[in-house]
Amino acid sequence: MGLLKEKIAFVTGAAMGNGEGIARVMAEKGATVILADINKEAVFETAKTIDGAVAYQLDVSDSAKVKEVADDVIQKFGRLDILVNNAGIARMIKVDNMDDALRDLHWRVNVVGCWNCTKAFISHMIKRRYGRIVNMSSVTGPRVVDPGMMGYAISKAGILGFTKAIAIDVAKYGITSNAILPGYFLTPMVRHSAHETDPENPGRVLDGIAGKVPLGRFGDPKEIGYLAAFIASDEAAYITGTEFLIDGGSTLPETGTMGVLDG
Ligand SMILES: NC(=O)c1ccc[n+]([C@@H]2O[C@H](COP(=O)([O-])OP(=O)(O)OC[C@H]3O[C@@H](n4cnc5c(N)ncnc54)[C@H](O)[C@@H]3O)[C@@H](O)[C@H]2O)c1
Repeated sequence: MGLLKEKIAFVTGAAMGNGEGIARVMAEKGATVILADINKEAVFETAKTIDGAVAYQLDVSDSAKVKEVADDVIQKFGRLDILVNNAGIARMIKVDNMDDALRDLHWRVNVVGCWNCTKAFISHMIKRRYGRIVNMSSVTGPRVVDPGMMGYAISKAGILGFTKAIAIDVAKYGITSNAILPGYFLTPMVRHSAHETDPENPGRVLDGIAGKVPLGRFGDPKEIGYLAAFIASDEAAYITGTEFLIDGGSTLPETGTMGVLDG
């Protein structure tokens, strides 16, 4: 319960999926959570189900609105201890139609969104000489990739670079910045991607993914929450500029065919 006692945490993309899982766990660990999401109805509904939570409708790619919300948070709560830059989108892009608009959309939401929120809160963290920044990257881009992921992959690799760059700049203030690289977690985003892959039979795609994970299943968004809560805790004070892979072993197999099997 006490890991994040008395901490104030701001989680973007928190209406559903991984952001919701992170917000729930952080609240369970004692934090006051502020949920921000572009989906107004969903974010207010989700906040109602989390003790003491507050919600904002926010498009993270809108820098003026991000600043307005951040100023309001600081005015109401007096500080921000934990920033979780989780909001993100994923759309397929075909290599024979490298859609510039979709490339820019990934960049704007996934990378610039992360930039905007960090920019809006960082001076407050620096002033207090305390802060935990947790950025949602992915195994997709930094580690592995499937066809059609080029817009998403460059954004997730960009987040990793941003995480490290911020980490070095704010280390002298005792502020940490780290990235989480999830494998597959069963969220609305993944259901949407499965539908884009095979609109006739998205269940086949989902079963195929789960079957290839060494631990034999999708991750549960709350499992990302447990990791994020640790990275955001006082106990993680000496961890910065690094990457946390959480993928049920999905990036482990080297060939998928070589090796001696048991049984
Ligand atoms: N689910 C996975 O398997 C997986 C794997 C690796 C990384 N991730 C990352 O985790 C994060 C969350 O993914 P998810 O699977 O929960 O997605 P999701 O689509 O299920 O949920 C994303 C949430 O972000 C919100 N959002 C979208 N655009 C926004 C914007 N411009 N401003 C504010 N909020 C916005 C959505 O409304 C939604 O509530 C993303 O950054 C994603 O890239 C997910």
